[in-house]
Amino acid sequence: EPTYRIASIPGDGIGVEVLPQGEIVLRAAAERYGFTLRFDRFEFASCDYYLAHGRMLPEDWKEQIGAHDALFFGAVGWPQTVPDHVSLWGSLVQFRREFDQYVSLRPVKLMPGVDAPLKTARDIDFVIVRENTEGEYSQVGGRMFSGTEREIVTQETVMTRVGVDRILRYAFELATRRGTPHVTSATKSNGISITMPYWDERAAAMAAEHPDVAFDKFHIDNLAAQFVLRPDHFDVVVASNLFGDILSDLGPALSGTIGIAPSANINPERRFPSLFEPVHGSAPDIAGKGIANPVGQIWAASMLLDHLGERDAAAAVLRAVEEVLADPAVRTPDLGGTATTETCGRAIADAVR
Ligand code: NAD
Ligand code: IPM
Ligand code: MN
Repeated sequence: EPTYRIASIPGDGIGVEVLPQGEIVLRAAAERYGFTLRFDRFEFASCDYYLAHGRMLPEDWKEQIGAHDALFFGAVGWPQTVPDHVSLWGSLVQFRREFDQYVSLRPVKLMPGVDAPLKTARDIDFVIVRENTEGEYSQVGGRMFSGTEREIVTQETVMTRVGVDRILRYAFELATRRGTPHVTSATKSNGISITMPYWDERAAAMAAEHPDVAFDKFHIDNLAAQFVLRPDHFDVVVASNLFGDILSDLGPALSGTIGIAPSANINPERRFPSLFEPVHGSAPDIAGKGIANPVGQIWAASMLLDHLGERDAAAAVLRAVEEVLADPAVRTPDLGGTATTETCGRAIADAVR
């Protein structure tokens, strides 16, 4: 029976509440499908850890979690005590960059029975392929004349040919594998006149290499509008780091709630562990109430299983999610229900069993 080692990192706020529900469902899947999961829990990458140690991560964090088969992550951030750019850049963004998790896969699906906020939403089922290690999230820049009238701040967008090509290639190959050979590229080459035209140029070259995949591109402002007006147009949407971030809150909102959206941060070459997390953050506004939707975390668990090669178990978890979401009695308040995080999580684990 195969054994997998999972590093669990709950983080802050509702991360601490939803991560255990993901673990319960993973355990149920392991039992049902005949493999073993060993969880190691890590308390770093949280604002409490920062307050105790003056840093988000211990010096040897790569040794501590670098050999695990997968990383299972909740959410970080507690802006009341630690500024977001300190907590997030110091943890999650480091994982993505240092472990070269250059693909962030963010599926968006309108689940059966879930009420979408828009009447344009009928058949929403697409995946955002977000570049996850470079682009607008760069360390190039700085601050001069700090605190004076002459203050200047800059932060450069960094695009490398390797970085742009590998995310585009992933998107085209994914479109082919999904059987919906259609890629949409998010761009802004009218206003951002160097990096975005470069992205377009590489995207056009990649499209030419994949004649069987339909290709279109939209400026990001129009794309945001098109997400709302005709969400069923999209299949695979490939975007730079920042555009992918924004679209991956918008997409799930169209499908009812950001609380169900997962994110797989993948190093496709498997030189480093990949990281699976919900798209949402630590939600300080609802933290501690036991009402956070655990589905984003649980769907991320399904993606983790898929990454481990446990395809049947992964599919079973997703089926269980769909089945449970269809039942209004086990929906959390973000979906109009009254269920708690635990009730919803337990129902999904039972459905997997
Ligand atoms: P957020 O995603 O935490 O919350 C946005 C809104 O969505 C809130 O109203 C929240 O209550 C709601 N929401 C989010 N997840 C939900 C769930 N599972 N169930 C029900 N409702 C849910 O975004 P924010 O408010 O911009 O950020 C809060 C903190 O989280 C900040 O510190 C931010 O930097 C951090 N953050 C972390 C991550 C991450 O760790 N991956 C992602 C985004 C934001
Ligand atoms: C996400 C989050 C992060 C991002 C933040 C918290 C740094 O919003 O995973 O979508 O921007 O990548
Ligand atoms: Mn985001």
